[in-house]
Amino acid sequence: MHILVIGGAGYIGSHVVKALMKANHKVSVFDNLSSGLESNLFAQNKFIKADILDYAALKNALLEKVDAVVHLAAKKAVGESMQKPEMYALNNISGTINILNAMAGTGVKNLVFSSSAAVYGNPQYVPIDEKHPLNPLSFYGFTKQDIENYMRWYEQLKGLRFVSLRYFNAVGYDEEGIVHGLEKNPQNLLPIMMEAILGKRPKLQIFGHDYDTKDGTCIRDYIHVTDLASAHVKALEFLHQGGDSQILNLGTEKGFSVLEMVQATQKVTGRNVPYEFAARRPGDPAIILASAKKARQILNWEPTHSQLENIISSTWNAYQKSSL
Ligand code: UFG
Repeated sequence: MHILVIGGAGYIGSHVVKALMKANHKVSVFDNLSSGLESNLFAQNKFIKADILDYAALKNALLEKVDAVVHLAAKKAVGESMQKPEMYALNNISGTINILNAMAGTGVKNLVFSSSAAVYGNPQYVPIDEKHPLNPLSFYGFTKQDIENYMRWYEQLKGLRFVSLRYFNAVGYDEEGIVHGLEKNPQNLLPIMMEAILGKRPKLQIFGHDYDTKDGTCIRDYIHVTDLASAHVKALEFLHQGGDSQILNLGTEKGFSVLEMVQATQKVTGRNVPYEFAARRPGDPAIILASAKKARQILNWEPTHSQLENIISSTWNAYQKSSL
């Protein structure tokens, strides 16, 4: 298949591109490089440097005999989305409407979309399955929920078929070290720990240690990007074979606390992670855990790279490479 990967120069997108190439698909990348990196591009693939708000550029890209689209182009900082909802509305929602309209206008029917566990909000039960009520706590999460609704309408009215993949905590780097471009201005636990080890920031602040969990710190479901990437390949193949639209959680169904992540990082890297306890971060639920049963059944997908040691060592390798 010829796949247009929108946001293919980004952290998850570049891992998806690599997995698609490995599965012998033709790939074109569409990215405005606002957070994506030129160093994440593969020379073999066509690269279109453009914004998803540019309808003509999208349409031209799709007219190149594209069979399906993977859409990962989004602003994704939860805190920022509460400060600048206009930016998130425009980029995430209007940008996606442009993509849906360009697909409808060019007859490209199949779409794999990057959604997020942020659509669920504070869990009413764990593990969270896809039937869990949706109550996003951030505008970012709302944009993902809203887009899923648009996709449902375009399915009904325009013949779109989609797989919406709700990622839990995306972590890790390509173990082969081919994709190793570091995210600009990272906001998540693992990259922040790496920066603390390397002296790029004074220390990790652990947000809250009085949660109702085994050690008082929050528990999350950390899934390796290579496992996320393989789910995208399988989702595209599923749609290509005539599968119907799906919304699927992607997680490991196992949880680790922040302190467990710190300890494991110290063990794997052999370095001290300087940290201090700080106040809770608003909107952080104590425990988030996925049920990924549906993805396992429907896509025949299994996370095979998400062992903690692998997650940490691949991240550490990417960070060490960048600091050479
Ligand atoms: N944490 C800290 N200190 C930090 C950063 C994070 O203690 O400096 C803690 C958080 O409180 C949380 C855990 O580490 O308990 C993981 O935090 P991340 O910021 O890495 O990830 P989140 O679980 O907050 O968010 C992730 C994705 C979001 C998505 C959300 C949905 O990054 O995009 O899951 O559940 F919206």
